[in-house]
Amino acid sequence: MNRLKISLTILLLGLCTAQAPAQELLTNVYGRDCESLNGKWHAIVDPYDQGVRLRLQENRKPIRKNQFIEYDFDKGMRLDVPGDWNSQRPELDLYEGTLWYGRHITAAPTPGKRRFLYFGAVSYRCRVYLNGKRIGEHEGGFTPFQLEVSDLLKEGDNFLAVEVSNRRSKENIPALSFDWWNYGGITRDVMLVSVPDRYIRDYFIRLDKMCADKINIDVTLSEACAGQPVRVDIPELGVKASLQADATGVASGSVKVKKLTRWSPDNPKRYRVVVISETDRVEELIGFRNIAVKGTQIYLNDHPLFLRSISFHEEIPQRRGRAFSEADATMLLSEAKALGANMIRLAHYPQNEHTIRMAESMGFLLWEEIPVWQGIDFANDATREKAGRMIREMVTRDKNRCALTFWGVANETAPSQERNAFLRHLIECVRDIDTTRLITAAFDLPRYDHKTKTFVMDDPFADELDVVAVNKYMGWYMAWPDDPAEVRWNVAPNQPLIFSEFGGEALSGQSGDADTAASWGEAYQEKLYRDNLTMFRNVPNLAGVSPWVLFDFRSPFRFHPTNQQGWNRKGLVSERGERKKAWYVMRDYYRQIENNAQ
Ligand code: GCU
Repeated sequence: MNRLKISLTILLLGLCTAQAPAQELLTNVYGRDCESLNGKWHAIVDPYDQGVRLRLQENRKPIRKNQFIEYDFDKGMRLDVPGDWNSQRPELDLYEGTLWYGRHITAAPTPGKRRFLYFGAVSYRCRVYLNGKRIGEHEGGFTPFQLEVSDLLKEGDNFLAVEVSNRRSKENIPALSFDWWNYGGITRDVMLVSVPDRYIRDYFIRLDKMCADKINIDVTLSEACAGQPVRVDIPELGVKASLQADATGVASGSVKVKKLTRWSPDNPKRYRVVVISETDRVEELIGFRNIAVKGTQIYLNDHPLFLRSISFHEEIPQRRGRAFSEADATMLLSEAKALGANMIRLAHYPQNEHTIRMAESMGFLLWEEIPVWQGIDFANDATREKAGRMIREMVTRDKNRCALTFWGVANETAPSQERNAFLRHLIECVRDIDTTRLITAAFDLPRYDHKTKTFVMDDPFADELDVVAVNKYMGWYMAWPDDPAEVRWNVAPNQPLIFSEFGGEALSGQSGDADTAASWGEAYQEKLYRDNLTMFRNVPNLAGVSPWVLFDFRSPFRFHPTNQQGWNRKGLVSERGERKKAWYVMRDYYRQIENNAQ
């Protein structure tokens, strides 16, 4: 019997090794065998898109005396990867167009391995060429993608070319206008990832949404083959879960655990989780927590929690560039921690994995969203499918991050049938992968009813969300209709309500009267914050607040020649790291909330 079983297994495995190029994202890339391709890359600016005509991807050199080539990667500009191009060359600060990157890769044969080029993000779209051949492309400036190169890498020298464009377009996400800098480039890590011929492609390991002691496990192997054994170990919990893959290569199961310490902002406990198959092994730290809505409150681990949130863009203001590294994440998150925040609204797009993982280790709940920001081409089917792909990439990458508790599907979108269908599609895409987290969206629609002195909102789509969020700039874009202490709110009265944006501008160090907005003074911003906090006392279903924004950030339509100079000045902290008076108002407010909760 044994011999028969062994031969059957060998036969099955033989059937399992049919290999087609696999482009689905590897889960936990940083936990794999990675060779970094970060560093100085060659670069050619191509504003008229002539690169394909000139065959830049072939990195050609003249071979005959009468031949000439009108480019030479090796002798030209060099740019740091990862990094936006805008902050690396003054002449590229406002550049919007095509730019070619190129670099050599020396490869050795790796029998029994499959290899992938992994890009953490390229803004906004790109086409990738290896040794002159186009091997793939990607659209979307904030989610990762990978391209299998197992059979394309030559032994010795290879030339990798990436044609990048950050041109805006009505059909893009975000579309033609958005209030942040249009950074372009290979803006996150690039790696050559090696995995065994048969590998662990994906896994989702999380606490059951309704139970505090049940961990659900789904592991997907690279080969669709029934019977492959899989094991998931969580040593500290004494878990050794043995599973078997089904005919699609998925192994699923649940384990009951005792003495689990659930992750929380006060105790961001994570466990070493090891996923093992016959030929592969991958591990990482994973936290386990429950998140739920009960009435108008948000419950974390069966206790109501008030969200002391803050937003930040993926930007290092001192460098005037996009954040991409652990050091960058440390700078942004340390300032949020000093403020007393327990949550970050990662505006307005999926941020890099270093920020997500570090935020989880520091105890921040996270709201993550794709840039469905204001005017999107909601009636365009291709745009809707594109957004669906982007949100799937975001959820696929971060689904094992317990700190992620909110998926945002829209920011300030106008009601319409097309918009509703578009957002329903996004919600379906999220739910197709993850049914455990809360879905929200930020609305700027609340209107003031002067008779009842109450804000109301007429957007039935809000009922389709778990949590409703509002962006309302009382004292800035909207003058106070009444004394802040008298303003009432009756928006989504049966759901938790988050103020996902509020605030106003101030130029750090600028003086001015506390009642004069055009002063751009710190005193005005400080009073504006105090007035908003007064108003929050009259929001019966208030579940959290998130000031806009932690740092001043760059924006192409902030024109004031002395107060803005291309910066949105709503930061609580200036681009030089100076905390404004309003920063202290929020810090004290969060301290008071934290003390009252103890
Ligand atoms: C909007 C938008 C933000 C923007 C902010 C502002 O609410 O969501 O992205 O920066 O307003 O005008 O400062």
